[in-house]
Order: sequence, then structure tokens, then C-alpha cells
Amino acid sequence: MDDLTQRIQAAADFLRCHCSVSPDIVVILGSGWGGLADQVTPDYGIAYEKIPHFPKTTVPGHSGRLVIASIGGRPVAMLQGRFHLYEGYSPQETTLPLRVLAELGARFLIVTNAAGGLDPKYCPGDLMIIRDHLNLLLESPLRGLGEAEFGSRFIDMVNAYPSQWRSLAQELAQKLGITCHEGVYAAVPGPSYETPAEIKMLRILGADAVGMSTVPEVIVARQLGLQVLGLSCITNLGAGIAPNQSVNHAEVLAVGADRAERFSQFLEQLIPQLR
Ligand code: HPA
Repeated sequence: MDDLTQRIQAAADFLRCHCSVSPDIVVILGSGWGGLADQVTPDYGIAYEKIPHFPKTTVPGHSGRLVIASIGGRPVAMLQGRFHLYEGYSPQETTLPLRVLAELGARFLIVTNAAGGLDPKYCPGDLMIIRDHLNLLLESPLRGLGEAEFGSRFIDMVNAYPSQWRSLAQELAQKLGITCHEGVYAAVPGPSYETPAEIKMLRILGADAVGMSTVPEVIVARQLGLQVLGLSCITNLGAGIAPNQSVNHAEVLAVGADRAERFSQFLEQLIPQLR
């Protein structure tokens, strides 16, 4: 067994010993989305630092807890806070929690994030359902992994974000009065925000929103055969889109906090519908 396999097994064994529920759905709660885990009645909750081999979050706004709860009768594992490459973790480390939860039986992934909007129609506070992505991290969580332990490296990404889930999310957003778009998410390494010239480049490349996460998790989910829904909270306009307006993390967190209750309600109603 290689080292990554051993770490996944050790963390999964630990969680099996401490929690009898095996999750069906994983929700990765990014900046602004963490409220869902506080809103539900947990069956189980634990700080990441107590789980063997889980990395530690170093980002304000990412609390670092695994919460397992039943939502509309579905056992859901919520990762309240995620890991980014810019924290110094490898793509394999950032995706270890997802591999552990898949090992416990999860079959679906809802991945959420905060993102800067590039489409001029987008406004802070809007929801973007991810239709496709651009991996500009230039790294892959599959790099160097043996096919014998982890399965094929040559993952098909054509239908990474299936349309039936996107349609469900669209319909629900409309029902709840949440302004919602569908678009392409570009993942960049960060942690500095983009220059206006970089934002122009991303727009030319076909991106509608930009962030620093999500793509490694989606690649791993596809390797594991999990169905994926990706959601971005548009927290700001990309650098240079609004003249003389800078981008800062406090603003990203403030817009996320403002949308927390609404977006948690959205997830709580969406989860029971996912099949
Ligand atoms: N750029 C990159 N990542 C982000 C942004 C942004 O403008 N907003 C939130 N995450």
C-alpha cells in the first residue's frame, strides 16, 4: 500500500469507529457557504485536526470541521472549510478528505466556493452554477498516483457537471428568488488576486468566474465516479471590471456572510432532490 492509500484508510477507519452513519452526499463548504453545517442538527461533528492525516485549514472563514447530518432523510457529510494549494498543500493533500468520505460510501459531491465574477452581467451575491471549468492551476491531484490503487488516470471530463443536476439547481434558485447564472469556472493558484490584465485574459479564455479551489476536488470526484454539482457564490467583480475598485478578502467574506443564510436554505432544499 502506498502512503496516500494508508492515510486514506487510517482516516476512514477512524471515522468508521467514531460515527455509525455512512454519508451518501459530500458537501464541500467554501467561503460563504459554511452556514449549512451550523444550521442542521448534527449526528456527528469533529474538528479536522482530530482526524488522522487531515490537513489543517489556515484560512480565515474556513472553520475546519467535518459535520455529518441527515438532510431530508439523506446522510450528508459537510466539510466546513477546505484546503487550497496556496496554503502550501499538494493537490493530493487538498483532496484527501474527499477520498476518505468516498471510502465511507459517498456517491455524490456538491462543491461550493466563493468566486470573482467576470461576466459583466454578474453581481456580487449572485449564484453561478458551474457548467464547466478551466484548470489553470497547472497541477493535478492524479499526478503520480498508481493506476493499480487509484484507477485510471485518464479521466473523462466531458460531463463533469451533469446537466440534470444543474437544471434542478436552476429551478430551485428561481423558486427561491436567487439570481442565478450558469458558467465556466477558472481555477487559478492565487493567493494574490488577479491583475486587470489577467482578468481580461481569463475572459478571452472563456471563463465567467475565477477562484482558487474546486477543480482538484472535481477531478478526484470524477476518478472516484462521484456525481458532481459545482456552485459559486459571486462575491466580487474580477479585478479591473469596475474602475478603481480593488479586490480584498474581507469583501469576499462579507458578501459570503451576507448570502450565508439564503444559500444554506438553497442547499438544504436541493440536497433531498439529488438522485
Ligand atoms: N479571484 C480569485 N479568487 C476569488 C475571487 C477573485 O476575484 N473572489 C473570490 N475568490
